[in-house]
Amino acid sequence: MPATITTIAYLLSGILFILSLGGLSRQETARRGNTYGMLGMAIAILVTALSPEVTGYGVLAVVIGIGAVIGAILAARVEMTSMPELVAILHSFVGLAAVLVGYASYLDPDNALTGVEHTIHEVEVFVGVFIGAVTFTGSVVAFGKLRGMIGSKALALPGRNLWNVGMILVSAYFGYEFVGQPDHGGLLSLGIMTAIASIFGILMVMAIGGADMPVVVSMLNSYSGWAASAAGFMLSNDLLIITGALVGSSGAILSYIMCAAMNRSFFNVIFGSFGQTAKAGPAAAGEQREATSVTIPEAVQLLREASSIIIVPGYGMAVAQAQYPLYEIVKTLREKGTEVRFAIHPVAGRLPGHMNVLLAEAKVPYDIVLEMEEINHDFPETDLVLVIGANDIVNPAALEDPSSPIYGMPVLECWKAKQTIVMKRSMGSGYAGIDNPLFYKENNEMLFGDAKKVVDAILAELKSGAAHAA
Ligand code: TAP
Repeated sequence: MPATITTIAYLLSGILFILSLGGLSRQETARRGNTYGMLGMAIAILVTALSPEVTGYGVLAVVIGIGAVIGAILAARVEMTSMPELVAILHSFVGLAAVLVGYASYLDPDNALTGVEHTIHEVEVFVGVFIGAVTFTGSVVAFGKLRGMIGSKALALPGRNLWNVGMILVSAYFGYEFVGQPDHGGLLSLGIMTAIASIFGILMVMAIGGADMPVVVSMLNSYSGWAASAAGFMLSNDLLIITGALVGSSGAILSYIMCAAMNRSFFNVIFGSFGQTAKAGPAAAGEQREATSVTIPEAVQLLREASSIIIVPGYGMAVAQAQYPLYEIVKTLREKGTEVRFAIHPVAGRLPGHMNVLLAEAKVPYDIVLEMEEINHDFPETDLVLVIGANDIVNPAALEDPSSPIYGMPVLECWKAKQTIVMKRSMGSGYAGIDNPLFYKENNEMLFGDAKKVVDAILAELKSGAAHAA
């Protein structure tokens, strides 16, 4: 295939990948985004396979066939809740591929580079293998933690940060030793660095607590992109460089967005220690009233009386899988003319987009599912807010209490509504491990119980009331 056609095809793939990322950023366009991505990848594979360097078509067809079958089976079987572990193991493949490409490229007998170009190539190999090895072992540990094969508790080795800095410095030293050695004489240095980088990846992810894993998966996503980009430089493949950079930067942006929405710095997540600060709460504040609760019929009465309702779903709704009966409630209320909308916090639940996916599964229309910034100013004009299995994302301490560990985290300001009902099993805390002053506010009522059972009971009461009225 002529080089110009290859270049144009690669450019087209790159554009399709960018359109794909753009499409995936909104629920309404996500399907289209996926199609662009698949098309871009199909073009990329086809053009690469048709390039003059590729000759072993038999082997290529077999490995693509095996890979496609495994991928299709995995994608068809994976549960939504297991998605992060699938993503983690896929990242490990990218990391391993970058390591293997690095070694193959270094040992390539046909490599005719000389002078500065040769030195640059060696640096590319060294950096690519380092990032690849960290990504590979880090992703395997992340997979093990998410699968429950490795304990999810953070492993805090004494002097961990010193060890980390030490490993990076020793790797840099071996990088210095590696570059410029004749006749593949740098192989030993490359091997030692690979071992160190592998240990670095293991310790880095072992040190991160279970609930922070979504940020780590997104960070490893970014690393896998940079590893692919490094492989692109080694192979002089422009498309791999572009795609790797897109994955690397989008993963980094996602990690940043998740950290910002939790009001935590990236370093705080990586270096741990969250939730160990002094707890804020009614005992600390001293002057709060006792929390009061309502029964199911009382809650249903409040739902019937309200003409505008906002529902705030959180992690508890996901665990209880309460979205299906919840949407039945929403339909019943909307049929009688009540305005019902959902308010989604960027880190509600435990995965990016967790709530959006659950609500989409239950067929909730997109136009009543609003992001935090779209709906936060509507709370003062709202009659009733139903908080279902959410806690930290509706904690007023984030705005009002400078001593709170989550102070500064943007939250859904639901307490500004006329009435709130918080549905959860107990007065227990959420992910951040802190008390929530919302529970004690004058205009709040607790509704205790498992989200699914309570939502089922509300639906039954609502329907029986509607039947009586008819
Ligand atoms: P949380 O603050 O963790 O609160 C969830 C609440 O759900 C808990 O207080 C729990 O109270 C309740 N719950 C648990 N199981 C329940 C059930 N079966 N029925 C009813 N309620 C149940 O969740 P959130 O408000 O969604 O906030 C998310 C938190 O996770 C934030 O702190 C965020 O920073 C963190 N986080 C999120 C992400 C992403 S990307 N989403 C990533 C990492 C960390 P009871 O035990 O009393 O029932």
